[in-house]
Amino acid sequence: SLIPVILAGGKGERFWPLSRKHRPKQFLSLDGSGKSLLQATADRLLPLAGGWDKLWVVTSSQLASGVQAQLPDLPAANILAEPEGRDTAPAVAWTTLEIAQRYGKEAIVGFFPADPWIDEEQSFQQTLQAATELAAKEQAIVTLGVKPSYPSTGYGYIEQGEQAGFVNGVLAYRVNRFTEKPDRQTAESFISTGQFSWNSGMFIFKAGVVLQELNTYAPEMMALLEAQGAAAYSQLAKISIDYALMEKTKLAYVLPVDFGWDDLGDWNAIERLLKTDGANVEVANHVCLDTTGSLLYADDEQEVIVTIGLEDVVVVRDRNVTLIVKKDRTQEIKQVLKMLQDNP
Ligand code: GDD
Ligand code: MG
Repeated sequence: SLIPVILAGGKGERFWPLSRKHRPKQFLSLDGSGKSLLQATADRLLPLAGGWDKLWVVTSSQLASGVQAQLPDLPAANILAEPEGRDTAPAVAWTTLEIAQRYGKEAIVGFFPADPWIDEEQSFQQTLQAATELAAKEQAIVTLGVKPSYPSTGYGYIEQGEQAGFVNGVLAYRVNRFTEKPDRQTAESFISTGQFSWNSGMFIFKAGVVLQELNTYAPEMMALLEAQGAAAYSQLAKISIDYALMEKTKLAYVLPVDFGWDDLGDWNAIERLLKTDGANVEVANHVCLDTTGSLLYADDEQEVIVTIGLEDVVVVRDRNVTLIVKKDRTQEIKQVLKMLQDNP
């Protein structure tokens, strides 16, 4: 069986001002279901884990109590709190060391982002069972590849290599190459070959396999974590697992994904989620004259947003903040937050 770990230490800044320091994206419910993204992710992983005691979350110490409040059935010992955010490589390395200590190096571990939108649960369960089987059988770091629909520069790209046989009814492939967040031109050339998929950010492997790979490709980080555990964090470099390990390992496999997937990366994702096809998305009390392709969002039904003659903009009212941004520049919210002294 699988020991799923939810990566829940990110800030989700591109959803600001709805996401704030103590209320990051994974704590929000964006699809109107009333469940937060984190809660939906935990629900989806629970059948694979076979119970709350086998599910883990790694997050920042700032968010740990929020995680526990959102997942009251999760044993407190299964929430790992990082002293400070160092991106996903240290999160994966430290958690895998802890899990290997508790369950041994043969344990099959899966890392999952806290915040994607996923459809067709059944296909998700089948693919994950296949990934678990493959990781048990081979020295494999299993990734799940999503069919790319545009040359995004915000994802990792996986080039599929030779076929590696069927597992649980799913055809697996070796990975030729993994490229994290390529520039636009490179992304376009990848897509035109038809051999690349987007990295969904989920990784499944035997604990011992990844520890050995990290010892090879990130020896300093591993030495520090093995000697000092979480106390090593202040000395660790900030780097994601995609750069630290996936671009380097030769043990990667990819399973094609055919469940619906969206990483809900920024405000534009709301539009895809609600499938509005170019009409305005209005999650607000609004009066619009001559406004098209826009997203209007207020945290309170009492708020009124009025727009006249606008095209392709995102307007978000949340408590003390109003954001107005052109749709194609929502990625730049991160830069603005650096300018704002303290994320209000
Ligand atoms: N515990 C912990 N600590 N979690 C973290 C940290 C950290 O320092 N930083 C990020 N996370 C969590 C986030 O909350 C999210 O659930 C997950 O790790 C991935 O981090 P992102 O920051 O969202 O990564 P990304 O979207 O830029 O890129 C990754 O995901 C893409 C798919 O959505 C990569 O794996 C890409 O290759 C991939 O395509
Ligand atoms: Mg992300």
